[in-house]
Amino acid sequence: MGEVEGWKREAAEAAVDLIRPGMVVGLGHGSTARYALLKIAELLRAGKLWDIKGVPCSKKVEEEARALGVPLTTLEEHPELDITIDGADEIDPDLNVIKGGGGAMLREKIVAQATKYQVIVADETKLSPRLGTKAPVPLEVLPFGWRTHLRFLENLGARVSLRVDSDGTPFLTDQGNYVLDCHFGPIADVEGLAKELDLRAGILGHGLFVGLVDEVFVAGRSGLRRLRG
Ligand code: A5P
Repeated sequence: MGEVEGWKREAAEAAVDLIRPGMVVGLGHGSTARYALLKIAELLRAGKLWDIKGVPCSKKVEEEARALGVPLTTLEEHPELDITIDGADEIDPDLNVIKGGGGAMLREKIVAQATKYQVIVADETKLSPRLGTKAPVPLEVLPFGWRTHLRFLENLGARVSLRVDSDGTPFLTDQGNYVLDCHFGPIADVEGLAKELDLRAGILGHGLFVGLVDEVFVAGRSGLRRLRG
């Protein structure tokens, strides 16, 4: 396992210690959150954790959790979650984050909004002085009229690309929508930008998570750190 991969695993496994029997747990999407899922499954198998229910943030996570034997529930049955462990693409000093490298940001945000304690797990390469410096902001857009957003987004300062699969066809979210990756560069007003995007019809969700994160577990060269808002 490479160095960064080891940090991802360290951060994710440490966060799993926060889970207690009886909790409803949001299961994030992505390669870092996956280490948390694997650890949860291991603890359940070993009888060291019990009576938890997971809410997967994507169809892929749902499939993997089922295969690992992790008990699942839905937001219909449990509209309030105790804790969610998820990854991020970029994290600023205020614990605002960009998510959606895996295209699951809409479901991830719905789960985060419903969560009492939102935990992000990451390696230290994700830390950034200002969001937008490292990662584009992904938007989930309805295929209907998607091109009409290009001028609007360019006027907000973005260079925009439609996310495509390896065969060149548009990447589709779990809801069957498109993703526009918006390269803003360092974003001066994250909250203002998030509000502009929230107001636009056809943009169904975006990867700016403002004020939603309670704690970040970050691992790197100097070990594991816990950052709280
Ligand atoms: C999924 O849509 C994303 O929000 C991921 O949580 C994020 O991209 C981090 O993924 P990695 O842990 O794979 O870097």
